[in-house]
Amino acid sequence: MTELVPPIDYIQRWEDLIRARRVQHDAACAAQGRTTDDYWARRAEGFRKFVQEAGKQADPFIDCILKELRPDDSVLDVGAGTGRHTVALARHAKHVTALDPSASMLKFLREDIGSQGLGNVDVINGGWPEAATNAPRVDVIISAHVLYPIEDVESFLRAFDGHANRLCFLHLMTGQPWFDQIQLWESVHGEARRPQPTYIDVVNVLRQLGCFANVEISWTDMPRSFEDIDDAMDRFMESIAVGEDEGKVARLRKGLLEQLAKTPEGRLAFPHRRYPLATVWWETGALSGGA
Ligand SMILES: C[S@@+](CC[C@H](N)C(=O)[O-])C[C@H]1O[C@@H](n2cnc3c(N)ncnc32)[C@H](O)[C@@H]1O
Repeated sequence: MTELVPPIDYIQRWEDLIRARRVQHDAACAAQGRTTDDYWARRAEGFRKFVQEAGKQADPFIDCILKELRPDDSVLDVGAGTGRHTVALARHAKHVTALDPSASMLKFLREDIGSQGLGNVDVINGGWPEAATNAPRVDVIISAHVLYPIEDVESFLRAFDGHANRLCFLHLMTGQPWFDQIQLWESVHGEARRPQPTYIDVVNVLRQLGCFANVEISWTDMPRSFEDIDDAMDRFMESIAVGEDEGKVARLRKGLLEQLAKTPEGRLAFPHRRYPLATVWWETGALSGGA
């Protein structure tokens, strides 16, 4: 029988999305004689500022996890970055392991562990799933905003699900990053930015792997404001792949100045908007078969 609507291979769709976006970003970097390899090393300080400002709001991902977390649970934070979730969960769990391939991001995490005297956190410098063998098996495994550039989503998710005794939590955007939505890439490069996967893509991939995941949507305020235009430029130079090109630098500055407005505190911010985020979670062992 002919199917009226052909089935979608969501794993293939995921790969296609990521490849197209990466090719576009790599090409923009290559045009400046650079690679994207040390992207997070260059972004670490700016990301730290974003996290500090976001930390003034409630964190919907932490709220979701805390509903299920037990005090004697061990947790693995995959792609922990500068450690906002690791540090928050260390106060509620028996032990947290933070794993990330970027030494620059982990430097900030280590500083916080030290300054807050957290004795129940370990750090592993490595990527997932390659470094899974170095990480302890845990009760609860989490990963926030890490999947967007991960091409082999099936290996990531199988290792993720296979590494925890009880629960898996992912946190993702529901749409494109807000800096894509304000057309900065278009202003600088003159072409539409290729989209990255969102929560609905991972829900579909999980379904294809046999797992019916739970989804909780929460709304958050777009957090980031800037000291001045140079601070805003610092934030976007890497993600918009501007490099040293004077024309691109000027177009980014113009694009930002057109959209940023002074706040009552004298900072610069984009017009206020609410932003939906998704927590995707399931009980471990839900993925069927093997790769
Ligand atoms: C947007 S940051 C998110 C950091 C943190 N989870 C948070 O929400 O604040 C993405 C992080 O994923 C890390 N990352 C990239 N590829 C990874 C991989 N294969 N395995 C684990 N982490 C990865 C990056 O180094 C970076 O620190």
